[in-house]
Amino acid sequence: MMVDVFDLVIFGGTGDLSRKKLLPALYAGFVAGRVAADSRIVLTSRSGLKGKVYDWLKGVFDESQPACAVEKDQLETFASMVQVLELGLTEGGDDWAALKAALDCDDDRPLVHFLAIPPGLFTSTCELLGEYGLNCDRARVVLEKPLGNDLASAQAINADVGKTFREDQTFRIDHYLGKEAVQNLLALRFSNILFEELWSGRTIDHIQITIAENQGVQGRAGFYEGTGAMRDMVQNHLLQLLCLVAMEPPARMDADSIRDEKLKVLKSLKPMTSAEIERNVVRGQYLAGAMNGQAVGSYAEDLELEHASHTETFVALKANIQNWRWAGVPFYLRTGKRLPDRFAEIVIQFKSVPHSPHPGWGDRINPNRFIIRLQPEDHLALRMMVKNHGAKAETLKEVEMNLDINGNDGMRLGPYLRLILDAARGDQSLFVHRDEVEHAWRWVDSIIEHWEKSEEPPESYQSGTWGPYEAHDLMTRDGREWFHETSGRKVAR
Ligand code: BG6
Repeated sequence: MMVDVFDLVIFGGTGDLSRKKLLPALYAGFVAGRVAADSRIVLTSRSGLKGKVYDWLKGVFDESQPACAVEKDQLETFASMVQVLELGLTEGGDDWAALKAALDCDDDRPLVHFLAIPPGLFTSTCELLGEYGLNCDRARVVLEKPLGNDLASAQAINADVGKTFREDQTFRIDHYLGKEAVQNLLALRFSNILFEELWSGRTIDHIQITIAENQGVQGRAGFYEGTGAMRDMVQNHLLQLLCLVAMEPPARMDADSIRDEKLKVLKSLKPMTSAEIERNVVRGQYLAGAMNGQAVGSYAEDLELEHASHTETFVALKANIQNWRWAGVPFYLRTGKRLPDRFAEIVIQFKSVPHSPHPGWGDRINPNRFIIRLQPEDHLALRMMVKNHGAKAETLKEVEMNLDINGNDGMRLGPYLRLILDAARGDQSLFVHRDEVEHAWRWVDSIIEHWEKSEEPPESYQSGTWGPYEAHDLMTRDGREWFHETSGRKVAR
């Protein structure tokens, strides 16, 4: 097992992402022996910290439980690795001199700057990192999404960051790429002839990718109202998953080869005309409703908005990839807040058999489906028809063949730890190249521009339902159904 020693600066170190995801992941990594105790973690914050780091971390972990138990001794050691510095991000001064001093060391251990701050601060922070010599060769910068708000702002950020950090020092994170089942998708596709041979429009009918969330947007007012699900989830997570499903086999599993193939997919996404957007893209906003028997408010109530908002909390769309492998195979993408369940899943639905020799079974034979479940658990399953045990030979039933991919290798360390360790090692395979970000924006921008021009509000859906009726219709009018509607199993496990 590799134990990593590094220096990590989290800008926005006492903020939401750091408290909910980064620190719990780092602590679990430390307990699992993946992060060495002489690593240094600096959290920068606008207002510093009153009180002891230990007490603050304890409070953080009480709320955002790491993947392991929090023991006093271990937390004491971990707290001794963490330092909180008050730091402004728009101009230099004594605070920046203190940061530089905190990071001085005479070895060449990796130095990772994790920018868990709004993208509007990326430029000034990178400039200051350059000014204080913190962009040296051992340094890397990790940029948390959203990378801009549209193509133009993403290009500006990429250009500005590029003045201080080389592309091989720049790590644009999409935490979905760090999820275990995503790694497995690549392993499975490119290490088994069985799947690869079937992986095209010759045998695949369509693909569904869903990221469903049951939470609303409480507590993220400032961020969400100007963003919406298209920018928050489709531009990055959903399109990245689509790329991994659709990409050609890379020549090698290295960063350049993988990213080149993903980029080709993004370049092949068919741009939609206004009429196609109207027909193939559904957006929705949640109304009040009930979740687990509890009354919950609408989007506008959650954000305490005094005006009507057109921000979408739900998107379902049909995308087409214009290349030889995928011509004619629709990719249905869907994401939403306040849906009945939380899960992320890719469903590869194969074509129906051309003819059934079982009398009367022609239209009752379910097509094969390969299901890649990314959360809440990692899970791969193949749905197939078999003979109904004990019944007459011509009676069939559908079974799910589950592939055990979890093994016994202990605690799940989670995507953020994996990606921070990759950044420390300089491995960019699971990070997004600037060209990918820009092409994804180009495709998404045209849809958002159409919405802005049309001035139509999003469809509404009740909290605790599967989104607007139009999302259901998007499938049924093509003679298809969302998998959760037909799978016959409860979605959450
Ligand atoms: C983030 C989005 O990138 O991903 C959030 O900004 C969303 O709105 C989150 O809730 C979902 O991530 P996960 O890993 O919990 O599915």
